[in-house]
Amino acid sequence: MKRLLFALLTLLAEQSFSQTIQSPDKRLTLSFSLSSGGEPIYQLTFNKKPVVKPGTLGLELKDHSLLSGFSISKIDSSLVDENWNPVWGEVKTIRNHYHELLITLLQKETSRTMRLRFRLFNDGLGFRYEFPNQPKLTHFVVTNEKTEFNLAGDHKTFWIPGDYDTNEYNYYTTKLSEAVPEKGRTSDEISARFPIANTVQTPLMMKSSDGLYINIHEAALVNYPAMILDVNRSTFGLTSHLVTDAMGNKAYLQTPFNTPWRTIVVSDKATDLLASKIILNLNEPSKIEDVSWIKPMKFVGVWWQMHVGTGTWNYADTSNLILKNTDWKKLKPNGKHAANTTNVKRYIDFASQHGITGVLVEGWNVGWEDWFGQWKEEVFDFVTPYPDFDVKELQRYASSKGVKMIMHHETSASVTNYDRRIDEAFQFMKANGYDAVKTGYVGRVVPRGEHHDTQWTVNHFNRVAEKAASYKIMLDAHEPVRPTGLHRTFPNWMACEAARGNEFNAWSVGNPPDHETILPFTRLMGGPMDYTPGIFQVKMNHYTPSSQFQVHTTLVKQMALYVTLYSPLQMAADLPENYEKHLDAFQFIQDVAVDWDDTKILEAEPGDFITTARKAKGKEEWYIGAITDENARTANATLDFLDAGKNYAATLYLDAEKAHWKDNPMEYQIQKFIVTNKTTLKLKLASGGGAATSIKPATPDEAKKLKKYSN
Ligand code: NOJ
Ligand code: CA
Repeated sequence: MKRLLFALLTLLAEQSFSQTIQSPDKRLTLSFSLSSGGEPIYQLTFNKKPVVKPGTLGLELKDHSLLSGFSISKIDSSLVDENWNPVWGEVKTIRNHYHELLITLLQKETSRTMRLRFRLFNDGLGFRYEFPNQPKLTHFVVTNEKTEFNLAGDHKTFWIPGDYDTNEYNYYTTKLSEAVPEKGRTSDEISARFPIANTVQTPLMMKSSDGLYINIHEAALVNYPAMILDVNRSTFGLTSHLVTDAMGNKAYLQTPFNTPWRTIVVSDKATDLLASKIILNLNEPSKIEDVSWIKPMKFVGVWWQMHVGTGTWNYADTSNLILKNTDWKKLKPNGKHAANTTNVKRYIDFASQHGITGVLVEGWNVGWEDWFGQWKEEVFDFVTPYPDFDVKELQRYASSKGVKMIMHHETSASVTNYDRRIDEAFQFMKANGYDAVKTGYVGRVVPRGEHHDTQWTVNHFNRVAEKAASYKIMLDAHEPVRPTGLHRTFPNWMACEAARGNEFNAWSVGNPPDHETILPFTRLMGGPMDYTPGIFQVKMNHYTPSSQFQVHTTLVKQMALYVTLYSPLQMAADLPENYEKHLDAFQFIQDVAVDWDDTKILEAEPGDFITTARKAKGKEEWYIGAITDENARTANATLDFLDAGKNYAATLYLDAEKAHWKDNPMEYQIQKFIVTNKTTLKLKLASGGGAATSIKPATPDEAKKLKKYSN
């Protein structure tokens, strides 16, 4: 009897769902229902196991909540299966294949309609709220979004603290119940850094004890604040937490409006997670019709010099300057200003000698004397070069050497200032031969009270991408809100930083050896990252004898990152003089592609290792990158993707036998072999190490002379 009663109670407690759809391969099931109080509830299972348990959906508005009291007025469903070709990317063709469920809800009390659109792919779920144009809902203020992600267990979680301004943290790997974001306060601040209690950032990566990989993020963040997640450490429940603006609100909307998609990527294979294209598929197609001017590229730059402290952005060592009252020619030069014409020419020469397309120059424009930490509005004008930077001469010189210049616009997060000056700035760029800009938003946002990730600032970032497109300018944004796949819609928005980049290794405790094995599972789920790989001079005591800082890597791992960390803009970040000492290794950076026909994630485990193979766009060339964390290991690369019956010449760039990220980071070896589609490369990776391999069709001479690879 007791048992019967228990069964009955369990049955009652369990939500019964009125609607379900399955992923095309039937492994995922999405169920939807309204509770007795008319609350929307959803659940997601993978092979019948819960990924997210029943959780509620809805929003709070200033005047009324959209959380309950709903009835279903219409249900639509469909199956979509189509292919599309990105302008650039990891693969040539992307399949968009999903089941859709569209639920139209009516809130009786307010006569308001809200729709929930679910798209269930083989590798996860996307869903969003939609508010059609309607008499009882026109202009409204969102004060909260209450989307629940109720996880089924205390998963292993790769997290950084929730923060309204920055993602530049090292990752913590703990159980979800041990995610204590307050821990994330560290001393090496660069952007505004204010962890919000009990919240974590997305993309949030988790692994269940039975081997399910789950990633929560969002797609198409347009006219809405970013979503971080409130963590309930005892129930393992996450709830959306929208970034709060200066007025304490979240979003100001007008119908018709669709929120960004909430995404749950899920698979029992870590490699599938990295290959997922859900976030791109949920974004709108390109808004740019003529894309012929958008070109992936590698670049070098007057940049690392400043980070390692041998050069400065500023021309004079003074402070307290007022932009419009300063005569820059009258300032006393500090003698360390790196963006001077002669030095920039050195980078142009290096780029041109080594087939690198671009040269970035930071610190070319006036205003760096007191740009940082002042929360000041008129910081830069973006059109006045320092007296020792000859724009016209450099335009002439770069073009004579076939090199493209990349401009830098550090805004110091004074967004209003940049907004006011941006047209003039972009016109100045075009007039002087610059087709690409790296923007930067270091520090606290102006207008004061806004944050990097509020609706207002999100709109700014998107506006800059759109405006850049109208000037045919490619964009790489540092310190923006983290990406959500908008590079599909604006393919000129090629890269973002929005995570802790390599630069932290130059002047802080840096990024531990597992950092780059986590990034593709977290930050890069939303889009390419300008991580600035390629640091060959690993230890900073090379520049400052007392420095303990170093990149937590071997030299070869830096090369492997060109493959494992995808970006269509890849910097060769070290100084030309450091590359000149290792030109045999630099050959890989010179050769490696930045745009791909195909990508195979060969093996991966977040926090541990990644081995990726990619085929260069329009070429019969493959590049493989393998990286590990602090543990030495052997990466296995099975080359069954090569054409059968063909001989290929593989160049293997390997950590030396005794290489180690800390004790012996810069020793490497290079080997060349013949490989075929039957070969499995066994690549030995040092602690904190990596391996890089290029594979090209063998010439008859190579086929004769090179040894066949065997392991
Ligand atoms: C931080 C950026 O990430 C870095 O690349 C840049 O050099 C500095 N800000 C200065 O703008
Ligand atoms: Ca940064």
